[in-house]
Amino acid sequence: VISEAADELSVDAYVIGGYVRDHILERGEPKDIDIVAVGSGIELAKKVSEKLPNKPKVQVFKNFGTAMLRADDHEIEFVGARKESYRKDSRKPIVEDGTLEDDQNRRDFTINALALKLNKDGFGDLLDPFNGYEDLNKKVIRTPLDPDITYSDDPLRMYRAIRFATQLNFIIEAESLKAIKRNRDRIKIISKERIVDELNKILLSEKPSKGFALLYKTGLLKKILPELTALQGIDEVEGQKHKDNFWHTLEVVDNISENTDDLWLRWAALLHDIGKAPTKKFHKKIGWTFHGHEFVGAKMVYKLFKRLRLPLNEKMKFVQKMVLLSSRPIAIADENVTDSAVRRLVFDAGDNIEDLMTLCEADITTKNPKRFKKYHN
Ligand code: CTP
Repeated sequence: VISEAADELSVDAYVIGGYVRDHILERGEPKDIDIVAVGSGIELAKKVSEKLPNKPKVQVFKNFGTAMLRADDHEIEFVGARKESYRKDSRKPIVEDGTLEDDQNRRDFTINALALKLNKDGFGDLLDPFNGYEDLNKKVIRTPLDPDITYSDDPLRMYRAIRFATQLNFIIEAESLKAIKRNRDRIKIISKERIVDELNKILLSEKPSKGFALLYKTGLLKKILPELTALQGIDEVEGQKHKDNFWHTLEVVDNISENTDDLWLRWAALLHDIGKAPTKKFHKKIGWTFHGHEFVGAKMVYKLFKRLRLPLNEKMKFVQKMVLLSSRPIAIADENVTDSAVRRLVFDAGDNIEDLMTLCEADITTKNPKRFKKYHN
């Protein structure tokens, strides 16, 4: 239908971006389809709708020059080929009409710049000016332009690079990785919500530790989750060492992820030890202790969720609860128990979140050791 509509309007039309990438990688039928028209994307969308049996509503976003319609299970977005230039202080580009090549130039990675022609003349031709196809085969994340430009123009792409590397199990090309380190301070112009979207996608990957290790090595993790990077390192006093709680956390996240796809349980695994940095002490008699870290950690979860604009609802309480029971995720990971068994563990431990929170507020570890013991065990 799109092919016919484009021919009738005499515009060249291409399917581009994630759809082409996922199609080549055989990652299943992608839901979102991005179409580029060398001409008006809005006109093409309207023509396509006219031709579809149920004439779906076309949503037009005039300011962006884009249009969207839903067909079957797909969300199809139409845009006119464009050239973009960026200012230093904003992620919003200045946009002008352009060629297909201009449009491919403005994209984040070579594997996301692949275009397939839809017009009858040349149907199915792959337009791949940056060797994205080869990068898909070599499993490499690479930017079409100088990576310093791509990342500085739109710093969210630094998180996207790491997210794609984690989801697809690709490597980030060395020059790109260096550019991420150089440009990491630019992340301040990106909203927390967008960064959290990427963190969620990393957490929902098969092996989230890959993404968090990259975020750590590039310095991006400290920008968004300093509570986590504070866990890194091993101290030694009088010949006694504690474990590195950062790398340990990543192991727990991976282990939990083998057992559950629940995003919030994965968040809980990620945060289960965050109280350990501020509570770390060395006692002459007992050595290293993190006494009360569960309660400090649960309080930190609230602040962290608020800062990241994550929902302060039941999900957050669930994460807090898991952090309060933070010795459990480790046991869970070790025992390889199933998702439902994990839930049973959590809920058996006491469902009264208000009570747990009250315990959190009072410094229970010193004021009420009996109650602490009850919840701790
Ligand atoms: N894109 C970009 N820079 C961004 C976001 C998106 O260049 N910061 C381009 C890429 O070409 C990308 C396309 O817009 O392929 C669509 O973006 P999006 O829907 O966010 O990502 P997908 O690649 O479709 O992947 P996913 O659906 O997994 O997010």
